[in-house]
Amino acid sequence: MIELPEKIKKLIGEKNYTIDQIGKSDSTVIVFDNMILKIQTITEESDNEHEMMLWLQDKLPVPKVLAFERKAGLSYLLMSKVEGKMSCDEEYINNPNQLATLLTKGLRGLWQVDIANCPTSFALDRKLQMAQYNVEQNFVDLEDAEPDTYGEHGFRDPSHLLQWLIDNKPEEELVLSHGDFCLPNLFGRKEEVTGYIDLGKTGIADRWQDIALCYRSLLHNYDGTYTGKAYEGFDRNLLFEYLGIEPQWDKIRYYILLDELF
Ligand SMILES: Nc1ncnc2c1ncn2[C@@H]1O[C@H](COP(=O)(O)OP(=O)(O)O)[C@@H](O)[C@H]1O
Ligand SMILES: [Mg+2]
Repeated sequence: MIELPEKIKKLIGEKNYTIDQIGKSDSTVIVFDNMILKIQTITEESDNEHEMMLWLQDKLPVPKVLAFERKAGLSYLLMSKVEGKMSCDEEYINNPNQLATLLTKGLRGLWQVDIANCPTSFALDRKLQMAQYNVEQNFVDLEDAEPDTYGEHGFRDPSHLLQWLIDNKPEEELVLSHGDFCLPNLFGRKEEVTGYIDLGKTGIADRWQDIALCYRSLLHNYDGTYTGKAYEGFDRNLLFEYLGIEPQWDKIRYYILLDELF
């Protein structure tokens, strides 16, 4: 076990815990009865997760921040455990209408937040700068890409993709964006949102950022990409029917491509 900062140790005492394996980042998530300890390398993202979680306490259902410590290159976020189930739970996957309702509420909830005093912006120019840094530093993981991003009918390499993204910027509709709006990051109970988690990329951005990653997550939770188990019932238009908006496939593609560089 990692040597925890004193303040965190005091708060968790001798409680039993399990280690969660779901997240994709380098974070370690320790699950207690009613709280969660997320340990990750200190980055802009880990600091932003804490800052946005605090900013959203009275605006959206997000975990309560119980403690936050930075020590020896690691950040420790102790937060309350969100109730309900992840929206990638079988209960939702087997019930596409209920899932679409939940995701629609999740997205609309974000969009109704007044962004006037939002502490963070990930509007496109900033994201493209961050993407450029990742490309220059060779941080882009090609293994993790969608099958058609690179190769014969796709981009030659990350810098080719980056140039295309710079040359094809869509017009932005700025809202509060979760930034990684995939199914394991939204919790619900039946049709009610019980919590938004994993807020490291949360800030002001185009509404299509979240729609795009939500769509990609839906697709891959049904086709078995993540778990090896495929499910029936995926309809690419269903989410948009619930949202009451026309899918803009060019923007969806753009933001999925942008995410390849993170
Ligand atoms: N506050 C929380 N309440 C309940 N479950 C959580 C909470 N925080 C994290 N988890 C669980 O741990 C998983 C990984 O945490 P997350 O913050 O999404 O990290 P990652 O960046 O690794 O995806 C989540 O998908 C969820 O299952
Ligand atoms: Mg996550």
